Amino acid sequence: MTNIIYIVGPAGSGKSTLTLSLLETMESYELKCVTVNLDPGAEWLPYTPDIDIRKDISLTEIMRRYKLGPNGGLIAAIDLLVDHVHRLREIIKGMKPDYVLVDTPGQMELFAFRDSGPIVVKTLGENRGTLFLADACMCRSPSTFVSTLLLSASVFVRFRNPQIIALTKTDLIKEDDLNRILDWWDNQESLLDAMQEEPNPLQRDVASSILPGLRGLGMPGELIPVSATRGSGMLELMTSIERAFASETALDLGKEFEPP
Ligand code: GTP
Repeated sequence: MTNIIYIVGPAGSGKSTLTLSLLETMESYELKCVTVNLDPGAEWLPYTPDIDIRKDISLTEIMRRYKLGPNGGLIAAIDLLVDHVHRLREIIKGMKPDYVLVDTPGQMELFAFRDSGPIVVKTLGENRGTLFLADACMCRSPSTFVSTLLLSASVFVRFRNPQIIALTKTDLIKEDDLNRILDWWDNQESLLDAMQEEPNPLQRDVASSILPGLRGLGMPGELIPVSATRGSGMLELMTSIERAFASETALDLGKEFEPP
């Protein structure tokens, strides 16, 4: 059975670097993996994708033909993914991998929040999961951590896949900061307490009222700290992914999902 993992996260959160590290980890356990680059705007990738959308969709050509700037061009390019997804599905089927690692567009909102993203996710294959990337450097205060969880929740609402959060670039933060973030994740009370110390009362109130709702969304999954450049946490991440695909929730969520 082929499992498809969508690697999603804000610009610069480490998607491409993690794709490479996850590929190396999975291959070292003799899992057959296929990498897919779905970012038509990617200028350079640290790995050589087996399937690369840039061969089908040229951002510069779209900008030239439709007289668009870089942002308009990227929106058009990402919407065009839908025209290629059935063919990509057949190519992947023929390759019979255990896992497909899909490196999604750098500007997450264009993929997750427009219609094309959920259509691509639904069409490419049935057994799917999302790996949401949260840059550890952006999670050091309680309110930025809550904002990151909100972003992760909105991706979950869009795709309805089993979802794991990878806390990336942990080599760039202090051990104390990392332990605090992990404690906030495990213990909602401790996050609420930390938010009371936020200097801005508005931030405090908004975050406090949002947090209980986030848990209520039924957002499954785990938060796994990793450093893709050092390779730390990668085995734990792979194990968490395997667990997510093995769970009943994965199947149920997949069935109920309907793209717009
Ligand atoms: P876009 O698709 O352009 O939005 O970026 P991305 O999300 O694919 O991130 P990418 O993998 O290109 O990484 C962005 C920057 O963060 C690069 O300079 C990476 O070298 C760096 N980076 C990624 N992962 C890590 C990590 O674990 N540790 C450190 N120190 N740097 C990292």
